[in-house]
Formats: sequence, C-alpha cells, structure tokens
Amino acid sequence: MTENSKKRVLSGIQPSGNLTIGNYLGALKQWVAEQETYECYFCVVDLHAITVPQDPVKLRAKTREVAALYIAAGLDPDKVTIFVQSHVSAHAELAWILTCLAPMGWLNRMTQFKDKAAKQQQDTISSGLLNYPTLMAADILLYQAHAVPVGDDQRQHLEYTRDLAQRFNHMYGDTFILPEVMIPKAGARIMGLDNPLSKMSKSEATDSHAIYLLDTPSKVKKVVMRAVTDSLGQISFSDIPDRAGINNLLTIYQSLTQLSQEQTEARFAGKGYGDLKKSVVEVVNATLEPLQRRYSEIIDEEKYLDGILARGADKAQQMANRTLREVKEKIGLLPTGLSS
Ligand code: TYM
Repeated sequence: MTENSKKRVLSGIQPSGNLTIGNYLGALKQWVAEQETYECYFCVVDLHAITVPQDPVKLRAKTREVAALYIAAGLDPDKVTIFVQSHVSAHAELAWILTCLAPMGWLNRMTQFKDKAAKQQQDTISSGLLNYPTLMAADILLYQAHAVPVGDDQRQHLEYTRDLAQRFNHMYGDTFILPEVMIPKAGARIMGLDNPLSKMSKSEATDSHAIYLLDTPSKVKKVVMRAVTDSLGQISFSDIPDRAGINNLLTIYQSLTQLSQEQTEARFAGKGYGDLKKSVVEVVNATLEPLQRRYSEIIDEEKYLDGILARGADKAQQMANRTLREVKEKIGLLPTGLSS
C-alpha cells in the first residue's frame, strides 16, 4: 500500500510520570504492531500534562524520556511520525475552536475529570482539566485519524471526540473523519499491583503500585512478588472483584506472551501463586531488557532525538495546518493573505 492509501492513526501519552507496563500494553505495544499497516502519528502530549501542576525542568526531561521510550519500544522514526504536541500550534488553536462548540454538560460527564478532580483541592483544579478531552479531540481530528489505539480508560474520550466531530460536521458541513477507538483484546486495563481494583497509573506515588518501563529487574521482582492476590489458590481468569489480583497477573502474562486465555490457564494448571508471580517477573524482564538497552543508547543522544522530533513536527504541521485552514475558513475566520 502507498502512504496515501493507508488509513491513519494518531495516539499519544502524557509526559506526566514514569511510563508503566499499563501504558506499554494498552498503547505502545499496539502502536508498534500497527506501524506497518497505518500511516501513524504519535505525539508526546505535553499540553495535556500541564492540566495539573508540573515542574518545568522535570516536564522537559520527561518529554524527551517519553519520546525516547516510543523509539525504544520499537517505533521506527523512519516509518512513523513522532512529535511533541506543543511543537504543532494547530493543536491549541483547534482546541480553542472546539471549546467554543463543546457543551459544558458533555464535559461535566467525563468520568476521568471527576476522578482526577476528586484527588485535588477544589480551588486548585484548572479549567484545563475540564477541557482536557477537547484538546484530545483536536489532536485526533487535526490528523483526520481513522483509528485511535488506546487503553480502555480512553473510551469515553473517544466517544466525546466523535460527538464533537459530528456536531462540527452538522453545523459546517463534512469536515472531520469520525475516528474509531482501537482497544487491545488483552491488556487494555492493567490494574495496580497494590490494589487490583484501581487502574495502574503513572502518577501514583506508592512503591508497590506499578511496574515501570525503566525499573531494574530486581525492582520488577520485588513489586510483582508483593502483588496483592487472594487466598483461594485458583489460577484462572475471573471478573470477580476478590480475584482481581490473580486476573491482573494472568492478563499481564497473557498480553506479553500473546497466548490465549486457555493456553495461559493451561500453563499454570496445578501450579501455585508463587509460580505465577515468578513467571510474570520473567516475561516482564524479558520484554524490558531490550527496551531499556535501546533506551540507554538514545536518551543521551540529544541531537539524534531532537532531530527526530523536529522532523516529526514538520511533517505533523503539514497535515494539521491543512485541516486547521479548512476549519478556519468554514467558521468564518479571516485569512491572513499569507499562505502558511
Ligand atoms: P495517558 O498518558 O494517561 O496514557 C497513555 C496510554 O496508555 C493507556 N493506559 C493504560 N492501558 C492499559 N492499562 C493501564 N493501566 C493504562 N494506563 C494508561 C491509556 O489508555 C493511553 O492509551 N488522554 C490520553 C493522552 C492523549 C491521547 C490523545 C490519546 C492525549 N491526546 C489523542 C490518544 C489520542 C492519556 O491521558 O493517556
């Protein structure tokens, strides 16, 4: 297939903490698998990260770190466009235009906003946090993405994006492609190892919560061996909340080995929880070892990384500006007379 006949995907990760195995299984792993089939745009969404307070020095470093992890996980910068969201100003511009179209009621319904807002003091919650899904819609719609590969927690944001695109199309005529959500069959919602009833998150402070992509093998071992399980002694997939810990470990194992649920359960027939945990440690470390090796090769190569991000921004800008121009024209904004 030629580049132009390929369908497009866009996705992104916030540089708001240390990337976890949840980010890998819900997002990165499927991005890598799709890079041959689709025309891909992957951004580091720094403008989303600042919806909660960030230390400027750390934010800059994390933005580079996340970009390097994209490549270390297997994205090929010669095949896909990797860029930093704030390098393409069309994202913020389209976000504002869409904000003026987005009913407050739609935003108030977003469960992720409610969860995040509940963790902050009421008077410090930014209006950016409420408008977060509109910026995400702008990210997606600017590239006329057909599909958006994400974990399960982003489902509602994708529905919101489609609603907003439909509203715009209805008001101003066909403009945006309605994107489909693309969720992996296994690993779409990895849970915390310390609390398997809450999603594994990169912004959780406790030591026993997550497997981070840059964890040492001994840290991975420590956190997995300590993972919360139950006292039933039964190794099988289950929706029952009491069995969520085992279900989560099995899911991590299954997603990393690409086995079916039946094959995964068969592998642990007659074994104990200790065996399951040891096997999870093995497959996680086998996945992280090459990723970390590649990461350490590129993270200090500032020129190499900055070159990729500059080329990525250039390419992204072309696509994004084309859509933005059309949008501005349709809603009646006066052009400058200069072609950009
Ligand atoms: P973020 O940075 O929270 O997460 C990045 C990606 O990782 C997935 N993910 C998980 N998947 C499985 N299990 C988990 N525990 C887990 N935690 C996170 C997320 O679903 C996501 O795919 N709003 C987005 C970033 C974003 C975006 C976009 C995504 C901004 N603009 C445009 C797609 C398209 C977010 O907060 O992701």
